[in-house]
Amino acid sequence: MPESPVTLAQASALIRHRRSIKPQDLDPAREVDAELITELIENATWAPNHGLTEPWKFHVFQGEARHALIASMQQTYREVTPAAEFREDKLEKIGTNPLLAPVVIACVMERRGGAKIPEVEEIEAMACALQNLMLSATAAGLGSYWSSPPLLDGATFRSFLNVNAEDRCVGLIYLGWPRAGLNWPRSVRQPVASKIIWRTTADA
Ligand SMILES: Cc1cc2nc3c(=O)[nH]c(=O)nc-3n(C[C@H](O)[C@H](O)[C@H](O)COP(=O)(O)O)c2cc1C
Repeated sequence: MPESPVTLAQASALIRHRRSIKPQDLDPAREVDAELITELIENATWAPNHGLTEPWKFHVFQGEARHALIASMQQTYREVTPAAEFREDKLEKIGTNPLLAPVVIACVMERRGGAKIPEVEEIEAMACALQNLMLSATAAGLGSYWSSPPLLDGATFRSFLNVNAEDRCVGLIYLGWPRAGLNWPRSVRQPVASKIIWRTTADA
């Protein structure tokens, strides 16, 4: 078996170092090279996927295109939010977040396997791909964050991204260089022992 190019300790360190870095913690003025973005997305495409359907499409928004993204998201938010839940501050946040991050990637699950591959498996493959993307971003020193507001399923936003009826935008990945002086966020996980059930006997 060929030797792994990284040690388990290096893989563990990268996985545990990744944090969700929110747009307000990114440097809006520092661009991310197209070549680097392409490498992150190429790593995303190396995710496991049932039947090699590669059920993904990545819409990369940068610069002025983020204004079109904002307009569509705000219009969709107005359309899909029940009056009692509508919040002006949320609408405003939708208008500012994409400008705080130099890159926003809309990640669309596109079904290609027909009925043979269940939808949930295509979504699972997307999650694997986005984790690859975020881990790669972390390795490059970038901050990333997966956002999944309900408006992603709204008709106006779906039409903005040309999402077909059987497909779905599973998230927006906000990407950028962490702003100077950022204290890398901490996160917690339950002790792993509480998540493992060892079954080793014949009557298990
Ligand atoms: C499928 C998925 C959707 C997510 N959507 C959101 C979201 O809409 N808003 C948000 O604040 N965080 C979202 N997150 C990020 C989680 O909040 C974050 O991963 C969690 O708080 C743990 O923090 P960490 O990523 O730094 O470990 C999402 C994560 C996943 C996997």
